[in-house]
Amino acid sequence: MQRTQLDAELRAQLPASTREAWPRHANYAQGAKHLQDIHRAMLANSEGMTRVLTALAEGHVATAQIAAAAKNAHDVARHVVDHLHTHHRIEDEQLFPQFARWNPKISRPLALLEADHRVLNAAGSVLDQALRSYPKAAAQATEYARVAQAAAQLDRVMRRHIADEEDIVIPAYLGLR
Ligand SMILES: [Fe+2]
Ligand SMILES: [Fe+2]
Repeated sequence: MQRTQLDAELRAQLPASTREAWPRHANYAQGAKHLQDIHRAMLANSEGMTRVLTALAEGHVATAQIAAAAKNAHDVARHVVDHLHTHHRIEDEQLFPQFARWNPKISRPLALLEADHRVLNAAGSVLDQALRSYPKAAAQATEYARVAQAAAQLDRVMRRHIADEEDIVIPAYLGLR
């Protein structure tokens, strides 16, 4: 919730590699690219839902467009929450144990990511609850405040987590130790 970057001690346990070099690596297409593509799609959806819900809450959507914007933001947010759970399950049950066996040095960084998943699940539950009492069609702007806040919080935590996760997991995908 509060981390602004990976701490130096933890970073020292990772192999030296730079984000810019990943796509040029011979092994990039074997899994690493797929994970980054999924993450980009998750972040694009999360950015979209947060932007539209915030605009609705601040009264910045033209009256004629409110109904369509609200429905679309709801559906995207629903997808973000559901996809998050599936994505974490695959990482926790398959991906992370596999990488921890392959390179025990990154066990602690991987444990941090698993702990992040619990924080993300909690933020996802807050948004899930807000979606269950989503404002009705004729709602006032202020009624979108709760769901907009929940979306913004999840978006912020997801961005931090995905950036750190890629720094930890992509080098392992590329076969760097
Ligand atoms: Fe993750
Ligand atoms: Fe992930």
